[in-house]
Amino acid sequence: MAILVTGGAGYIGTHACVELLNSSQEIVVVDNFSNSKQEALNRVRLLTGKDFRFYPADLLDRKSLTSVFSENEIDSVVHFAGLKAVGESAVVPLRYYDNNLTGTINLCEVMREFGVKKLVFSSSATVYGHTNNVPITEEVPLRANNPYGRTKQMIEEMLVDLYESDPTWSIALLRYFNPIGAHESGLIGEDPNGIPNNLMPYIAQVAVGKIRQLHIFGGDYPTKDGTGIRDYIHVTDLANGHLKALNYVRDSTGIQPFNLGTGRGYSVLEVVEAFENATKKHIPYRIVDRRPGDAAVCYANPEKALNELNWVAERNLEQMCRDTWHWQQWNPNGYEKKQLISASGLPYATDYTHIAPHLNQKGHKH
Ligand code: NAD
Ligand code: WQD
Repeated sequence: MAILVTGGAGYIGTHACVELLNSSQEIVVVDNFSNSKQEALNRVRLLTGKDFRFYPADLLDRKSLTSVFSENEIDSVVHFAGLKAVGESAVVPLRYYDNNLTGTINLCEVMREFGVKKLVFSSSATVYGHTNNVPITEEVPLRANNPYGRTKQMIEEMLVDLYESDPTWSIALLRYFNPIGAHESGLIGEDPNGIPNNLMPYIAQVAVGKIRQLHIFGGDYPTKDGTGIRDYIHVTDLANGHLKALNYVRDSTGIQPFNLGTGRGYSVLEVVEAFENATKKHIPYRIVDRRPGDAAVCYANPEKALNELNWVAERNLEQMCRDTWHWQQWNPNGYEKKQLISASGLPYATDYTHIAPHLNQKGHKH
């Protein structure tokens, strides 16, 4: 039996695929590469030494999705596929509603058709909107305040309705806080298109010299140093949360939300300092106006995930910064092919020694 991973070529999806393959699970991956590249999946294969079936399908194409289920014995689904940029979602809201909601409806319809009712869904702390109730528990009322966040909130509500109509479903709604970092090998990581929207990839591009300086959005929040506070979580810890959630949905029926965060908040200035300490790179910055829509403080109470999933985040901010830097340093242009033209003349995508000097040509540590 296999686990279907939708959006498996993306930032969090690739890290989850690595952890799933390393724990000897069989996976099938679907992605339309709307925000990712084939090379990311090559790296997953390289890192794990394992192969898997991949379908370059769009969740909006129900026929292709049906073929994926009829050609494989799928027993559960981890659903990452979705559009995720908050700012863009305000510019093209219908595209976000169509892709995220219709994609999930199609997926659930096909799952139902094939009797597959175990689902782990990528939700987001963004569903809480602005709240003063920190640390945030799962009971805080949902009040998403942008179109992207509302797609996540609506999908959560839709999945509750689905469960209530058929209590044989088992669904985990994973509300991620701020995923950052990269696989410790430096071979996979976050590869944003254009100028990054989020703090850590932005800092990493300043460090590598692609951007001159960081703009810190707001220095007058009611926090210890005036900058915004968030709960940053290492992407590998987050990926492991999906393995725990899969065990949970396999052993039960029901629908439950879980916060996946560390429970600890850091300010923007603390992140900059931690990055500088971990990497010995100077990050010039300038404090500018607040970014509209940003909350002052947001961090999780992750106790429910500990108690019910037996999951806890293990990696600290220093590791998050160091791993981000290794990924950025060795892949200054992300998964772009031109970075991989091998100095030793080996064919593209077979020689990784120059992007990850601590690995040999097969991707293993020396
Ligand atoms: P990502 O953009 O790197 O990955 C999403 C993947 O889904 C991409 O590879 C994209 O090509 C694919 N995709 C999108 N629409 C698709 C469709 N219709 N059919 C097939 N494939 C499609 O994003 P990520 O950071 O890996 O996030 C994964 C999930 O987690 C998303 O649902 C996102 O909303 C959610 N999430 C992300 C964060 C974050 O900060 N990264 C935080 C909270 C929640
Ligand atoms: C973090 C802090 C900024 C960039 C977003 C989404 C959320 C979720 C995670 C998907 C804030 C500050 C940022 C910069 C800055 N994604 N900042 N300069 O906004 O907490 O969450 O990603 O579900 O939905 O909204 O993350 O990394 O953008 O910002 O000063 O160039 O860094 O103001 O305080 P955010 P972020």
